[in-house]
Amino acid sequence: MESGQYLVALLIFSFISTAYPHSVIQIRRENHNSVAYNRIYDGRRVRRDDDMYCESWKFSVETNDAGYWSQIPSRCEGYVKEYMTGDRYRSDLEVIADDSLAFAKTVEVAGNGKDAWVFDIDETLLSNLPYYAAHGFGSETFDENSFNDWVDLAEAPVLPASLRLYGELKQLGFKIFLLTGRTESQRNVTGKNLLYGGYSNWERLILRGSSDTGKPAIVYKSEKRKELEDEGYVIHGSSGDQWSDLLGFAEARRSFKLPNPMYYIA
Ligand SMILES: *[C@@H]1O[C@H](CO)[C@@H](O)[C@H](O)[C@H]1NC(C)=O
Repeated sequence: MESGQYLVALLIFSFISTAYPHSVIQIRRENHNSVAYNRIYDGRRVRRDDDMYCESWKFSVETNDAGYWSQIPSRCEGYVKEYMTGDRYRSDLEVIADDSLAFAKTVEVAGNGKDAWVFDIDETLLSNLPYYAAHGFGSETFDENSFNDWVDLAEAPVLPASLRLYGELKQLGFKIFLLTGRTESQRNVTGKNLLYGGYSNWERLILRGSSDTGKPAIVYKSEKRKELEDEGYVIHGSSGDQWSDLLGFAEARRSFKLPNPMYYIA
């Protein structure tokens, strides 16, 4: 190439890269036949495929893109176990608590006792990880009886990031409402477990009463939030591990979704 042609080529190239900056980034296409081939011959490759798949699956369930699901994919049991028992879950919860607190600090608390924050309980304030660890981390069909036996023990450990947030919110002057899908028959053990975990001085513990039986969680929780609003409370924030803790009507001004790749409640 002569220097004149070279310059023209260079100018054209610069123009193209400026006009189409994304064309520089190429999305690699998987050759699916070769993936299947590797799966048979290389166990490590299978593991890598599973990790990639399960990470994408988790993204989809956490964002609610996946919608309703009943059991974790069996190939993701190891992935979910690692996530739930490793540092990532704890780290995710710390970041969410920080973000929740950052928002809470922007709220001008009226001082009339009507500034509310709503917390879910299971996988939000308390962790049922010991139960789920003994039941395949969500890969087994949910068994209400054995889960209720676990609840009756009142030994669910606390999620430390949530305990920290809970204390800070009280300091800031929020009234704390606990809104759970647990039933009235579990009021005593639930209170006992919360106190044992270090939570105290909540404004109200709201459980499913007989008139709430059979209602989808999203309806039951919305109705209870609406009752709080009708009492004059302003629900600034809401924290829950399920979208049904947060969506529906009478939604909080800001909702904070905690991770839960083990189960889905509609
Ligand atoms: C549970 O019930 C027992 C016995 O009636 C009572 O002493 C205790 O204070 C209750 N605990 C809570 C947290 O309500």
